[in-house]
Amino acid sequence: MAIIKVQKGTKDILPPEMPLWHFMEDTARKIFTIYGAKEIRTPIFEATELFARGVGDTTDIVNKEMYTFEKSERSLTLRPENTAGVVRAFIENGMHRLSAPVKLWYKGPMFRYERPQAGRQRQFHQVGVEVFGIKQPTADAEVILMAVNYLKALGLNDLSVELNSLGCPKCREEFKTKLKSVIKPYLPELCPDCQARYEKNPLRLLDCKVEECKEIYAKPEIQQVIQSDFICEECAEHFNELKSYLDTLNINYSINKLLVRGLDYYNRTVFEIKSNNLGSQNAVCGGGRYDSLVKNLGGEDTPAVGFAMGMERLASLIGEKEDTRTTAFVVSNEPLEAIKLTEELRAKGISAEFDLTNKKFVKQLEKASKVAKYALILGEDELKLNQVTIKDLDTAEQKTISRRDVFDIIGVRL
Ligand code: HAM
Repeated sequence: MAIIKVQKGTKDILPPEMPLWHFMEDTARKIFTIYGAKEIRTPIFEATELFARGVGDTTDIVNKEMYTFEKSERSLTLRPENTAGVVRAFIENGMHRLSAPVKLWYKGPMFRYERPQAGRQRQFHQVGVEVFGIKQPTADAEVILMAVNYLKALGLNDLSVELNSLGCPKCREEFKTKLKSVIKPYLPELCPDCQARYEKNPLRLLDCKVEECKEIYAKPEIQQVIQSDFICEECAEHFNELKSYLDTLNINYSINKLLVRGLDYYNRTVFEIKSNNLGSQNAVCGGGRYDSLVKNLGGEDTPAVGFAMGMERLASLIGEKEDTRTTAFVVSNEPLEAIKLTEELRAKGISAEFDLTNKKFVKQLEKASKVAKYALILGEDELKLNQVTIKDLDTAEQKTISRRDVFDIIGVRL
């Protein structure tokens, strides 16, 4: 019979990878808690309308990438990202009444129907933070610090922070008009996606990946518009203040005027953190400010800023898997003695196994060297003298000690 395989763009996360995932999750809990964030878990499916209105119906995510299905005449969608869901929960649970800032963090699976490739899956995991209620750039700075310090705590250093300001809806309108007029003569030469973006969402023209389009946008008259400081005085002040916080805190960043992000809810600050060690899908973190989203989804007017990171991308950067071997394997031809010592070890929090099938001594040692760091040998002599022989299975060093010392020695070497 044909076996049923895992779906394209999805992956099993198997036991040897688990220590790495626990490390990413535990570090998130630790670092985000230090910054005063509380964890939130929202449902994996939501009303389709939440994403259409939240993420924006001109975005690739909403137009091409959603897993949408009908149930009882309702249109539901597997969440492609979690900002919209967290905002829904914020509104529905009256969290605007809590004292600002309200800082929330989350982790969990997201779903996007994209063409799978290295670093891009259809089911992937994000860890993210959303901070509500503060319009000042102190919140933007804190959010960027949370991202940077989380990445540092994971031991990731070869990363660069890219920053841009998209201004407010007012200054952005002027910029869009200028951009459209300078691009208009080249319209017939642009890719079909860009032709659609030109009408619906001209800012998104800037992050087109098609070479021919990129060449057109590199033309001097277009670059002049892109590189111009189009944002209004208030937005510029907000951006400058943010930069001075980052400078004071020695956070390295570069300004990327092409950084527009693929979701519609942003205004003012947007940022991405990229790795120099990933292929084309090199963004490990994306985020920014979204001051109108809470109101647009029916809540009180509440400014907000946040980010999310792709955990599979983080995992591939952290790379090395921790040792998942059992600490101790008790080797003995006396199953009663073996189970007793194994249970004593477990009671002290030391992971331990013994041979459930009571094979020959040599076979048990072979098995121990495959699954454990130490073999604890209870032979005839050891049992008589109430001793244990500890064999380090990496170095083959061994010594015989009194049975009551075994816990201390193994415990210290854990
Ligand atoms: P995003 O840029 O769409 O932003 O996703 C954030 C991160 O999720 C990306 O930088 C990447 O690491 C990871 N990611 C996205 N798509 C995939 C995929 N198909 N496979 C693997 N990893 C992926 C957001 O989702 C916003 N909600 C971020 C945000 C939070 N902005 C404000 N608050």
